[in-house]
Amino acid sequence: MTTGLQNDLLIRAAFSQPTERPPVWIMRQAGRFMKEYWDIKNRYSFLEMCKTPEIAADVTMLPVDLLGVDAAILFSDILVTAEAMGGQLSFEQGVGPQFANPVRNRADAETLRTDVVDKLQYVGDAIQVIRQRLQGRIPLIGFAGAPFTVLSYLVEGGSSKDFKRTKLLLHNEPELAHFILQKIADVTVDYLNLQIAAGINALQLFDSWALALSWDDYKTFAHHYNTYIFSKLNRAGVPVISFCKGSSVFAPLMAEAKPNVVSVDWNADLRHVKDSLPHGVAVQGNLDPFVLYADKKVIREKILHLFERMRGQDGFIFNLGHGIMPDIPFDNVKYAIEVVKEFRF
Ligand code: CP3
Repeated sequence: MTTGLQNDLLIRAAFSQPTERPPVWIMRQAGRFMKEYWDIKNRYSFLEMCKTPEIAADVTMLPVDLLGVDAAILFSDILVTAEAMGGQLSFEQGVGPQFANPVRNRADAETLRTDVVDKLQYVGDAIQVIRQRLQGRIPLIGFAGAPFTVLSYLVEGGSSKDFKRTKLLLHNEPELAHFILQKIADVTVDYLNLQIAAGINALQLFDSWALALSWDDYKTFAHHYNTYIFSKLNRAGVPVISFCKGSSVFAPLMAEAKPNVVSVDWNADLRHVKDSLPHGVAVQGNLDPFVLYADKKVIREKILHLFERMRGQDGFIFNLGHGIMPDIPFDNVKYAIEVVKEFRF
């Protein structure tokens, strides 16, 4: 397969082809642990940054230029689909995302629109600008939020510790939950196909809060819709990564949905998960992000230990088990990436 990319390690690993070392990128790599992010953030609101292609491209490029990662990830947010559907979204410093009009009943749900792909064209435009900047050096990863995780923000009206309202909806009004989830899934299919048409090289579906669900509820309210989305994508040549917190438990179901890669949280032994999945399903992960606060010696040891476990395995992308925290020292992140890039299988 020819990708036309100078560095196609990520694409090869995602398709379970041999690589000389694991590719590395970091979830939330375009963000607040970088001083250069704040230099931009202090001038614009978060949504302005997402909606202005030149600025989104500037932020996307920061970890490419400053860290030397093997993939760029589009600068955006998983909640832009919900915003396009009618959610009144804002991001307050220290509070996180908030919807002023949470979805609490059938009437609220009826107002959510699905013919919204045109409203997300700014993401397609950003992808064009980023591709020009990347000049084929490394792949660009696109992404979207998975229906269950996006639903949780719409229903709770923001972040939640226990997802109480969301779970009440699933348990007491499953039909209404399915009505909303199907709408989000349809928008997500259009949105990811827009990103593919605009030229992304890989994509990741974030089901960040699936960990809150029981096995049966995960199957019914998350897995079902993720499977639907993966089946509707124009994904030839574009590997699909499925991420959730809870993947240590849900990995077998995640693989059943037919992504190319299962991204694994840090609770599991990555080799054990890899061995348990069908042949040809790659894994991504799974360093505990808190390791990046530790001494460099520890960072090195933990990464090399993971690599020893994965030695001889095709289909392995190095990443954290979840997103990087804003106060992790930049120097430690840079060091971790150097350790990965020096390694040879
Ligand atoms: O990975 C990247 O660097 C690309 C950009 C990206 C952002 N959000 C930028 C962002 C990606 C891939 C996301 C995904 C996202 N957004 C997820 C899934 C990823 C995960 O970690 O599980 C989730 C759950 C969200 C929802 C969201 N957006 C939250 C909870 C927050 C607040 C986070 C916090 O800790 O305050 C955001 C805002 C957000 N998205 C920021 C960034 C850089 C911070 C905005 C700021 O500067 O204040």
